[in-house]
Amino acid sequence: MKFLVTGVAGFIGYHVAERLLVAGHQVVGIDNLNDYYAVSLKQARLAQLAGKPGFTFIKLDLADRQGIATLFAEHQFERVIHLGAQAGVRYSLDNPHAYADANLTGHLNILEGCRHHKVRHLLYASSSSVYGLNRKLPFATQDSVDHPVSLYAATKKANELMSHSYSHLYGLPTTGLRFFTVYGPWGRPDMALFKFTKAILAGESIDVYNHGEMHRDFTYIDDIVEAIVRLQAVVPQPNPDWNVEQGSAATSSAPYHVYNIGNSRPVKLMAYIDALEQALGITARKNMLPMQPGDVLDTGADTVALYQTIGFKPATPVEEGVRRFVAWYKDYYHID
Ligand SMILES: NC(=O)c1ccc[n+]([C@@H]2O[C@H](COP(=O)([O-])OP(=O)(O)OC[C@H]3O[C@@H](n4cnc5c(N)ncnc54)[C@H](O)[C@@H]3O)[C@@H](O)[C@H]2O)c1
Repeated sequence: MKFLVTGVAGFIGYHVAERLLVAGHQVVGIDNLNDYYAVSLKQARLAQLAGKPGFTFIKLDLADRQGIATLFAEHQFERVIHLGAQAGVRYSLDNPHAYADANLTGHLNILEGCRHHKVRHLLYASSSSVYGLNRKLPFATQDSVDHPVSLYAATKKANELMSHSYSHLYGLPTTGLRFFTVYGPWGRPDMALFKFTKAILAGESIDVYNHGEMHRDFTYIDDIVEAIVRLQAVVPQPNPDWNVEQGSAATSSAPYHVYNIGNSRPVKLMAYIDALEQALGITARKNMLPMQPGDVLDTGADTVALYQTIGFKPATPVEEGVRRFVAWYKDYYHID
């Protein structure tokens, strides 16, 4: 099949594209290679994909309305896996417009492309951050998510709403993917594991927010990819029996579905750091700090619906995932 993968030079996009290529699919990948973090890492990921049979890279901005329209006109995509976005909670406090451009205008351009070219299935990244002020754990897709605590989260919730309207109006099958803290090889330098590893190896102390009193549902990248690859084959169907009063918020009368993709075994931040210390063989010096604005206290995914649909849920233990990340990190930066 012919796939469009957006954000293909990014952490998750790169892994998804690689997996699709190995399975023999054609992949057109787009990315604007922005400098939110090291462009060299994005280029290194692309270098892993370059030359693989079936892969084409196009440097393109999601907010470029004409460029995206032309892309869809030139290729007949059967599936679109939309992972390109301005990510990061903290950055959204100082750079809100980057989120409007990439995540709102960009998402609309992708929806329009799918609508006009009858794409069979659009899958797009949402985020566990949509759960915002929710306190009931685990977070379930049936729960209301109307209280985001960052603009980033608000744009992700907006993506779900925009997608629903297109599923309803044009019958476009859409699947929203609420990822829970993804980590692993080729990961993101702005995320805790990467920052901690860099600091510990440099002999610097690490910043531990809310004095370590946080739980995160850390989800290993291969589990995320497995779930996406299985879900792309499950095209949401309209359900005429669904209604707002009795139906789940994760589904609709329209061909629309939202899933949590998380490990469903939240880990204390200190245990995650412990796993990293073990993998590195170094004890970290810790700088205990208060909670940061925009952060949520605990996350945990209810993955019952995911498992019912695809017979799989993420399960890689953090000790193993962190070990694999450290092995990659040392190899990538040539550290003995
Ligand atoms: N990694 C996580 O823990 C996590 C958790 C929840 C949701 N997500 C979501 O998953 C998706 C992928 O995240 P990731 O961790 O791979 O992030 P990433 O930053 O590594 O990848 C995103 C890619 O999109 C590209 N991009 C950004 N704005 C663009 C634009 N305007 N035009 C074209 N390309 C653009 C970036 O250059 C980058 O390569 C994002 O939508 C993110 O919000 C990630």
